[in-house]
Amino acid sequence: MVGTSIRGSGPTSSKVDSLLVDASARIGSAKVPAPVFTASGCAASGKELDQFFDIASIGGIVTKSIMLEPRSGRATPRMAETPSGMLNGIGLQGPGIADFIENDLRWLYERKVRTVVSIAGNTVEEYGKLARQLREFDWLTAVEVNISCPNVESRGQVFACDPGASAAAITEVRRVLNVNTPIIAKLTPDVTDITSIARSVMDAGADGVAMINTLLGMVIDPDLMRPVLSGGTGGLSGPAIRPVAVRAIWQVHAAMPNLPILGMGGIRSGKDALELILAGASAVSIGTSIFNDPTAPWRIQRELRDELGLRGFASLADAVGYAHTRYEAEL
Ligand SMILES: Cc1cc2nc3c(=O)[nH]c(=O)nc-3n(C[C@H](O)[C@H](O)[C@H](O)COP(=O)(O)O)c2cc1C
Repeated sequence: MVGTSIRGSGPTSSKVDSLLVDASARIGSAKVPAPVFTASGCAASGKELDQFFDIASIGGIVTKSIMLEPRSGRATPRMAETPSGMLNGIGLQGPGIADFIENDLRWLYERKVRTVVSIAGNTVEEYGKLARQLREFDWLTAVEVNISCPNVESRGQVFACDPGASAAAITEVRRVLNVNTPIIAKLTPDVTDITSIARSVMDAGADGVAMINTLLGMVIDPDLMRPVLSGGTGGLSGPAIRPVAVRAIWQVHAAMPNLPILGMGGIRSGKDALELILAGASAVSIGTSIFNDPTAPWRIQRELRDELGLRGFASLADAVGYAHTRYEAEL
């Protein structure tokens, strides 16, 4: 685990040329030269984005959560617009881990893209089987463990809502994964105390946390007078959830200032990304914004550098959690 504090020391001058800002970032125990990643499920494996910008130039691609077997996901409709956001009920559609390794992972490796593979299981054993299949790929930047999945062995209760189940999934992944591959646990904000979940996964061997996943929501069509999504409920994302992300990141960073956080939730601009970093994120992921601007990760990475330079930060690391320092100084 991480030993020293990762809280940033603040700006070093009134303004720094953005080209001189050191934008390298921490994600789990890995250091990457750039701080912006895609968010799982919002850019598949990055192939489609590669026509809009060089995907090897951003922090990396976080792939869509992959499960053991192929899945067709839920029936349509599985997307609904909401004020300042969207609701999705895709249901983890995907080709299964074997096909993913053969096609997507191979392509990402050949393309030299920093890659975080997101895995999702229905049981602790499934998480272990997925991790075992990834064990040989020691070039991965990290494995993100999406624990926002129903645990079929516990009446369908979502792993990430229970500290014990969350820890069990991470312990199993740590047990079988290559020791050099960092583990990032992806947390849901749909809990009373997100710090207790973060602590349990950290104690179980996670090198960092990714937060936040979508919030559970529902949209009802007033004309049809029934839920819009085929599955009834879905995950809320986009700018509407950014204050929830900022709050959750703030709480986890305050409780565990040494735990690297990959922050996400409604980031649309470099300024939005900076907000999550000031709360305590050490790198960020871009999700829903990609749907209306496929260049968003690349654009936001450039904007973030400008925002840091404008505020006199010589490095991104100096800004991590800095709002805590300012806030505490004024109390
Ligand atoms: C269409 C869609 C699919 C998603 N699929 C996944 C997924 O497979 N695994 C996962 O961990 N998160 C998934 N997410 C959640 C995102 O990775 C992210 O945590 C969330 O959307 C908040 O970020 P945003 O507001 O920038 O989209 C998905 C989100 C959307 C909108």
